[in-house]
Parts: sequence; C-alpha cells; structure tokens
Amino acid sequence: MQMIEVGENDLDSLREALRRANLPCDDISEPGRRFYRFEVRGQWVAFGGLEGAAPDMLLRSMVVREARRGEGLGRTVLLALEQCASAQGALRLHLLTQGAAGFFAVNGYERFDRQMAPTAIRQTEQFKNLCPASASYLRKTLPVQVTNGNTPE
Ligand SMILES: CC(C)(COP(=O)(O)OP(=O)(O)OC[C@H]1O[C@@H](n2cnc3c(N)ncnc32)[C@H](O)[C@@H]1OP(=O)(O)O)[C@@H](O)C(=O)NCCC(=O)NCCS
Repeated sequence: MQMIEVGENDLDSLREALRRANLPCDDISEPGRRFYRFEVRGQWVAFGGLEGAAPDMLLRSMVVREARRGEGLGRTVLLALEQCASAQGALRLHLLTQGAAGFFAVNGYERFDRQMAPTAIRQTEQFKNLCPASASYLRKTLPVQVTNGNTPE
C-alpha cells in the first residue's frame, strides 16, 4: 500500500470520501492539517489525516473505501498514521469518533471524558464546532520510536 500526501489542489476526492462517511470536511483546506491517500495498485483505498503539532496531535478523517472495509486495511492505515505522527515528535494521538470507537479500542485507544483532552486538542475545530457532543473521545500514548537504529538498553 502506498501512502501519498494529499496536495492543496487535490482535496476533492478526500472531501467526497468524508461526505459519504458522514465525517466533517468543512475545515480540510485550513492550515495545520495534513492528509494522506492510501493506494493499492493506483486506486485509493483509504484516507487519513493528522492535525496540530507534537506532542499532542489529532488523528482525523480516517476512512476506508466502503467496499474494502473489514479486510484489515483500517488497522494498516492507522499504524502508518501513528508512525507518521511519531516521526513528527508526537507522543499521543487524540480523536473523536461517532461510529468507530470499537475499532480504535481494539487498536489500543482508550476512551476518556472530553474534558480530559489537552487544551491544544480541545481548541481544534473538531472539538469546538464540527463533532457533535455525542462523539466519543479516545487517545493513545504512542510507542517510543528508536531513531538511531540501536535498541534501547
Ligand atoms: C473505522 C474504519 C476506518 C475501519 O476500517 P476497516 O478497514 O474496516 O478496519 P479493519 O478491517 O482494519 O479492522 C480492524 C479491527 O477492528 C474491528 N473493527 C472495524 N470496524 C469496527 C467498528 N466500527 N467497531 C468495532 N470494531 C471494529 C475489526 O473487526 C477488526 O478487529 P479484529 O482484527 O479483531 O477482527 C472503517 O470502518 C471506516 O472507514 N468507517 C467510516 C469512517 C469512520 O467512522 N472513521 C473513523 C472516524 S475518524
């Protein structure tokens, strides 16, 4: 699977995928967000995004093409986004979801009260305006990345 950053002028297919999945898309062209398209044999199978800056980043806009759900692609995409966030220095990933809390829970995310989110996360558009109060807040502490090629002592 290939992971390709979505360019500013290439947001239409992402917007369409988010609309179909009933995920917020009003703010996708605003600064501070990065979106990725995941392709298999030249066809998109998923999108996902990261917002904000280390140490606390928001995982957002994750959607697997409807016909390809349940094949394990979601788990692979999530891992790729987590690694991408870690590489940018993130220590924790936070998210809001309405229908996929179970998916994130089986992938190591824990549910918390929304008020427990750090200020930077509570100030995102998703927290302030775009996600309904009924959305669940989950977060995960990312595994520490070893960057020098040596295993930790
Ligand atoms: C949530 C979503 C990304 C999962 O992608 P997927 O490719 O279907 O997930 P996977 O096949 O990798 O599933 C991985 C595991 O999560 C489980 N799972 C998947 N969706 C689930 C859900 N909604 N609730 C509970 N568990 C779920 C699977 O059963 C699997 O568990 P297993 O390995 O024990 O069998 C996909 O269903 C989707 O795009 N949903 C619509 C958009 C959305 O809600 N996005 C999240 C908000 S940011």
